[in-house]
Amino acid sequence: MPDEAESTATPHRRRPKPDILAIDNRRLSPETLMMGHGFDPALSEGSLKPPIFLTSTFVFENAAAGKRFFEGITGKRPGGAEGLVYSRFNGPNQEILEDRLGLWEDAEDALVFSSGMSAIATVMLALVQPGDVIVHSAPLYAATETLIGRILGRFGIKWVDFPAGATREEIDAKVEEAKQLGRVSLVYLESPANPTNALVDVEAVKGSRDAAFPGDEKPPIVIDNTFLGPLWSKPLRQGADLVLYSLTKYAGGHSDLVAGGAVGGAALINTVRMMRNTIGTITDPNTAWMLLRSLETLELRMSRAGENAAKVCEFLRNQPQVESVGYLGFLEPGSRQRDIYDRHCTGAGSTFSLYLKGGEAESFRFLDALKIAKLAVSLGGTETLASHPAGMTHLSVPQERKDALKIGDNLVRISIGVENADDLIADFNQALRAI
Ligand SMILES: Cc1ncc(COP(=O)(O)O)c(C=O)c1O
Repeated sequence: MPDEAESTATPHRRRPKPDILAIDNRRLSPETLMMGHGFDPALSEGSLKPPIFLTSTFVFENAAAGKRFFEGITGKRPGGAEGLVYSRFNGPNQEILEDRLGLWEDAEDALVFSSGMSAIATVMLALVQPGDVIVHSAPLYAATETLIGRILGRFGIKWVDFPAGATREEIDAKVEEAKQLGRVSLVYLESPANPTNALVDVEAVKGSRDAAFPGDEKPPIVIDNTFLGPLWSKPLRQGADLVLYSLTKYAGGHSDLVAGGAVGGAALINTVRMMRNTIGTITDPNTAWMLLRSLETLELRMSRAGENAAKVCEFLRNQPQVESVGYLGFLEPGSRQRDIYDRHCTGAGSTFSLYLKGGEAESFRFLDALKIAKLAVSLGGTETLASHPAGMTHLSVPQERKDALKIGDNLVRISIGVENADDLIADFNQALRAI
């Protein structure tokens, strides 16, 4: 006998037609599926594109359906809500976006957030308790370091870090150190690290975590994949449990929105979803709609930006005003970083570090002379951006930490866009002459 809710509930909405994920034996690629996956025009008056659903709440067909949906929202019934309830929990634009975002990494499930930082904060609040220890790679995006050290620290959460390029033995030692301090509830990574571009060996981290926690209570490995994902790096394949994004960057790709994402296994995503439902860090329908548009061109944009960066970096490394170029495409064969790159990455990205000969004055003259590249922080947009980390994003970082991370006054961070590569080279060429 079905229970009462099942017998009286009518479906909350017509389900979309089953998605076509393969033709004959050919599995369709994410770039193909971005045009229609998860949306059935027949449910929206035949509209080719999903409308933006500007509503704060959704009407239930009957009381039993409402109860059933809330059982999903509150976790009484596993698997999340079976219907649309209230826009702090879910909405059509966000759900379509989540379905499509997960495809890039073959993830079981996905969630979208109001910013990259709200994604990171929601995940940490969902996974850690007072007294716990977080093991993390270093450096991390400055706000993530603040969140762990200064905010979670206020609630008695401790942390132990290892340098991004650490070996299996070095990671093992740090995990052991962390275990002595308390319950290790999270292994948190960022690769490549901002702004050093150092890669983390996710396979080694997984080996270390699995060896140190042989039972079922394994701390999840969570990784910020903002710089290379979802095209050039897919860390679920190397053993990460949850992959986080600032969708503000390459996924959004036009420097016109702020959003975050998480993709991974269904159980972990469910845990994070409960926290997001409670604190309301979901993205809004309008931003979700803009991201749906962005994802249609993600592969085109990222590929073009990557090709442009390869040409620009090749030009820059040979210029007399340039000390060196910190670009993943130039990692030395035989080096540990190159080994990680070859095992983890399919492209070098389009964000890199330019070390000029000189100091702040030379960097500023270069930045002020740029005519195409815009002087702004952020990355991953269609337009090329350049900034000065020591004087801008990392201004508040203590000097000794800046020295350790090589964030000197001669460092310029560049994110290459989709402009004509030769135009960009002409711009950098004239700006170098202006130094
Ligand atoms: C690596 C990385 N993670 C997270 C963030 C935070 O993202 P958001 O600005 O969307 O909150 C950023 C922002 O620059 C970042 O570079």
